Amino acid sequence: MRFIVLGAAAGGGLPQWNCGCGNCNSARSGTGGLLPQSQSSLAVSMDGRDWAILNASPDIRQQLIVCPPLHPRGLRNTPIKSVLITNGDIDHLAGLLTLREGQAFDLFVTGAVARVIDANPIFNALRPHVRRQTIASDAPFPLLPGLEARLFAVPGKVPLYMERAGADPATLDDHTVGIELTDAAGERAFYIPGCREWTPDLVARLTGARLLFLDGTVFEDDELSRIGVATKTGRRMGHVPISGEDGSLARLAALRPTRKIFVHINNTNPVWREGAERTEVVRHGFEVAFDGMEVESGTGA
Ligand code: MLT
Ligand code: MN
Ligand code: ZN
Repeated sequence: MRFIVLGAAAGGGLPQWNCGCGNCNSARSGTGGLLPQSQSSLAVSMDGRDWAILNASPDIRQQLIVCPPLHPRGLRNTPIKSVLITNGDIDHLAGLLTLREGQAFDLFVTGAVARVIDANPIFNALRPHVRRQTIASDAPFPLLPGLEARLFAVPGKVPLYMERAGADPATLDDHTVGIELTDAAGERAFYIPGCREWTPDLVARLTGARLLFLDGTVFEDDELSRIGVATKTGRRMGHVPISGEDGSLARLAALRPTRKIFVHINNTNPVWREGAERTEVVRHGFEVAFDGMEVESGTGA
């Protein structure tokens, strides 16, 4: 499997339009070694010819422009055969509206995302050319020739725009799913850009995988309030922190031989820059994604 990180940042990107935090200011001014990073998406291919997009970010137009393997190879043509969406958050769904130009592709969604699409008539712009399929949890399906995918529920939450006062937004259903990819040789890779908790069941599932792209939204659970940009914790937003008891480093560092790469990184996260937090991540055997990062996994890697 060959992956390209189209967007390494969480919703809002780096810099976020209205944010004057240290990271965002550095990314804007080009100081401190921080480069701008776009919103959450991966591309995957088995052969370098046919590609699937995992999450359609609002930045997808620019992400495709700067990624030659995803350019058209003829008049009104695309190597993008399929698009798969892991939740209904705007950073993962709104990019579909950019892919509205009459080009056929397979769109794989959960029931929860299908309901969001059906409730928002703006997505009618994708009809009739986009072939939408609703995928049940744990049902294998061909994402690309030679690449099987499975969606599975992870602890998450409803999208922000569906939260209701007084109702717990937390979910453990198809509102937030991870993707398990299996190649013909049985090698597995995972993409879990949003997850509130690494449960024992989930850790067992990940065991033995070659590759894991995982939720790197916040380093500390209370990172947003510490910086002063918001009051919500990472977990309240549906994102397990990297650090701390039950954080990703503590729960997943023992996974072998898995290559572990943080994606969906919020602009506030200190791992964007050199420093103690990034050093801790690397010391635990994890990596920090960046736009354009290429990763090979499984057979032949
Ligand atoms: C998230 O991952 O928490 C969401 O993308 C937040 C948002 O919708 O902006
Ligand atoms: Mn997000
Ligand atoms: Zn910021």
